[in-house]
Amino acid sequence: MTQTEATPAANDTPLVPIDKIVALCKRRGFVYPNSEIYGGVAGIYDFGPLGVELRNNIRRFWWWSMVQTHDNVVGIEGANITHPRVWEASGHVENFVDRLVDCKKCKRRWRVDHLPPENLAQNKCPNDGGELTEPRTFNLLMETYLGVVEGDRMKTYLRGEACQNIYLDYDNVLKSSRMQVPFGICQIGKAYRNEVTPGNFLFRQREFEQWDLQFFVHPSEMQKWFDYWKAYRFEWYKSIINHKDRLHFREHGPDELAHYAKQAFDIEYRTVLGWQEWEGIHWRQDWDLSRHSQFSGQDLGYTDPATNERYIPWIVETSGGVDRTFLNLLLDAYEEEPDPSGKEPRTVLRLHPMLAPVKVAVFPLQKNKEELVSAAKGIHKNLQRLMVSQYDDIGNIGRRYRRQDEIGTPYCVTVDFQTLEDHAVTVRERDKMTQERVAIDALPMYLLDRVSWK
Ligand code: GAP
Repeated sequence: MTQTEATPAANDTPLVPIDKIVALCKRRGFVYPNSEIYGGVAGIYDFGPLGVELRNNIRRFWWWSMVQTHDNVVGIEGANITHPRVWEASGHVENFVDRLVDCKKCKRRWRVDHLPPENLAQNKCPNDGGELTEPRTFNLLMETYLGVVEGDRMKTYLRGEACQNIYLDYDNVLKSSRMQVPFGICQIGKAYRNEVTPGNFLFRQREFEQWDLQFFVHPSEMQKWFDYWKAYRFEWYKSIINHKDRLHFREHGPDELAHYAKQAFDIEYRTVLGWQEWEGIHWRQDWDLSRHSQFSGQDLGYTDPATNERYIPWIVETSGGVDRTFLNLLLDAYEEEPDPSGKEPRTVLRLHPMLAPVKVAVFPLQKNKEELVSAAKGIHKNLQRLMVSQYDDIGNIGRRYRRQDEIGTPYCVTVDFQTLEDHAVTVRERDKMTQERVAIDALPMYLLDRVSWK
């Protein structure tokens, strides 16, 4: 991979409580609770002005490094609703279930697979030791109905995993593009799950967004491509975080493999929630194309143009969450830095510059000096054509820096009286707080060089 690495954290900083991120997200317009004026809906969120920018940058970087820089990968965008048979073929109607127990005393609900072994063995609630009910099974698929006439409506599902569209479109992609096995199809899209225990902010939601690569290979090359994508995806995450030691692989045990997986590794990241899955690398073998061939009656086999061999391609899947990336990046980047002069700590988001929602903020030194204001606005307008720039003249320069540090803006540009003579500005960098004088003419390239991916 060629992109610039995020700066490693100078020293280990404490794990950030989720509440701090929730508060910052609401205060600064990253994330809002959905339908808040009606009391909200658990596990569903909206993204505000800064959240959309950050999300778009995260998505764009993924797309760039997975699709645009690989000759053997293309992208699609599928619908959220599909034919209901898709979910029978995929195994979700039958297997996508959670087994739950309730405490008869405190009424708390637990997933059986999340219970500590001793509580499971003794049938006791981890909260208050109350007796647990018999396990009940719940399907996580969200139902919906197509059609308007009562009695003539078709029940289907909002997609429980985004990747199914890729198998549905695989044959069309083969026929309409110049791809040959080995090749991959990528997609970013929403997925919906009736999670029984949504929570921890964006970590476990009911509506969320996934990014998937499904890479189709000859069975004899499965191991080679599995290893390639596993390593590639690990390096990708490593390149955008500061705390590199908080990332590792965990292999799934035989009892926790999803119904479609023959082998799986999670890329996990450590936060206050402990080590948790960020992305799964799955050896899906021929499960998906075989099942869709069987259920649709359409042969999804592939004929090798060189050897004429016909076979069902095997699949390497890399499947991660846009929302989990959003949350993990904020947890990774957030820092409250003590102020040496004893003032309140500086809150800073040390986001990778290419992902930061605002790339540059432009300030006039004083807002009542027309020449400074008009020069600063001119610079801001010029930069706006190239990147997200904010103009700010409220409060003193120190307060403006603080506001930008809190949302992760990597560069602040100040127009002062000297600018009017030497046509240069002061550029202040977020992390080290260093300042540099840069000619106005050179400023766009100076910034682009530091905030774009390469
Ligand atoms: N197609 C494979 C698949 O869906 P998964 O492990 O269930 O695998 C992939 O999901 C990724 O989607 C996870 O690694 C996680 O980042 C994200 N994800 C899964 N469930 C989520 C939820 N309820 N809320 C937010 N993100 C979720």
